[in-house]
Amino acid sequence: MTAIILAAGQSKRMKSGIPKVAHSILGVPIIKWIVGAVRAAGVDRVVIVTGFGASFVESLFRNDVLFVRQEQQLGTGHAVMMAADFIDDEVLVIPGDVPLITGPTLCNLIEDRRTSDSDVSILTFAPEDPAGYGRIVRENDEIRIVEDADLNDSMRDITEVNSSIYAFSGGFLKNSFVKLSCNNAQGEYYLTDIVVHANSVSTVAARYDGEVQGVNDRIQLAKAQRYAQEKINLQHMKDGVTIVDPNTTYIAPGVKIGQDSVIEPCTFILGNTVVGKSCAIGPMSRIVDSEIEDNVSVVRSEVEGAEVGRGAAVGPFSRIRPGTVLERETKIGNFVEVKNSRIGQRSKALHLSYIGDAYLGDDVNIGAGTITCNYDGKKKHKTIIEDGAFVGSNTALVAPIKIGEGSVVAAGSTITEDVPPFSLALARSRQVIKTDKYRQKTSGKENEK
Ligand code: UD1
Ligand code: CA
Repeated sequence: MTAIILAAGQSKRMKSGIPKVAHSILGVPIIKWIVGAVRAAGVDRVVIVTGFGASFVESLFRNDVLFVRQEQQLGTGHAVMMAADFIDDEVLVIPGDVPLITGPTLCNLIEDRRTSDSDVSILTFAPEDPAGYGRIVRENDEIRIVEDADLNDSMRDITEVNSSIYAFSGGFLKNSFVKLSCNNAQGEYYLTDIVVHANSVSTVAARYDGEVQGVNDRIQLAKAQRYAQEKINLQHMKDGVTIVDPNTTYIAPGVKIGQDSVIEPCTFILGNTVVGKSCAIGPMSRIVDSEIEDNVSVVRSEVEGAEVGRGAAVGPFSRIRPGTVLERETKIGNFVEVKNSRIGQRSKALHLSYIGDAYLGDDVNIGAGTITCNYDGKKKHKTIIEDGAFVGSNTALVAPIKIGEGSVVAAGSTITEDVPPFSLALARSRQVIKTDKYRQKTSGKENEK
């Protein structure tokens, strides 16, 4: 079965330089929400009609969807015509701006058309304020859709509206294109006008209003985000996750969180993230595309593209960047940045450090203010710190460099040569003391008084 998603429109009401369908809800572009729902409904071929900002929309996908271009945006009916070559026996048509539609609702619609054997089945709903939507007009056993701009006064009170999501018989859809005209208030080829040419029309009511709300401007974008946020948070709470303040907790679709984890306020868990059981996440944290095992705490910190092992503690005020693996029971603390590094089990970097492109063994201690100097202006170099090494505070490790197992680096060192195992490395100038250098001056001043 094929789905045609209409995403060529100019998004005038968004007042945006990028296409409406590329705006994100919980970090996921609107168009991707729709493709997800269509896939969940069992559709195997997805065709997206692009036009305004076409290459931007196309760049959001790999090779799993097809694109056709609508060079001039002459209306929703015209947009579907562009995909005529892909029309199967059954076709689902969806606008690109209904991000919250779900697989089960689409399945209901497909099923309804099959059982009623109609030319088209329309998904309808009854919003609190129908303004802006096409109305479902039922007269003399016939159904038609009248656009908001074309309504007469008696139709304005109709509350049942068109979601713009349809299941079509492919044969009917193809034969109807020739009958479309642009003789209406907006001078466009309306897809909605096809309905009057059908021999049989059926309708299905959406299960919730929220899932069929269109996103036409930034206010509706914020509403849709709020709806998605509430729905996702509720599901996690039902599954045994404590969300202390659902209003300020933003969890992307597809994120998994284990039982008894507690999510504190002002926290974002986005992208492809898995959080284990009994974790303490937040407050004020942002985790993106990461794998967090059980019993981990992340407090007032950023974690992106990282793996965090069981029992590890991150924060407050840490930044864990892509390519980082924190093994079990590691501790990364205040104002520590870790990038593209592996930190072995039970190793600690608790204060004011930068660890980049490093490989740390187990039980390593990184003293406050340690910096891996990984960049020479042209290339990045590796730092290796073997098991049990102790790096004293305020040390600069100039990479490429290796600190051997069990070695100690004295505080304040600038290490430029490898340190063999079980050794002490001191690399700082010796302290000089000039006794009584200032005594006379001080006593002189006292005499003046
Ligand atoms: C449309 C329906 C309306 C329905 C509402 C539900 C029509 C004429 N109207 O109105 O009955 O109540 O959706 O949300 O179908 N697009 C193109 N090419 C074009 C024009 C539009 O690809 O030439 C795409 C847009 O990018 C958008 C979708 O079609 O994703 C719907 O267009 P939009 O302008 O938002 O239609 P509405 O006015 O909301
Ligand atoms: Ca719309």
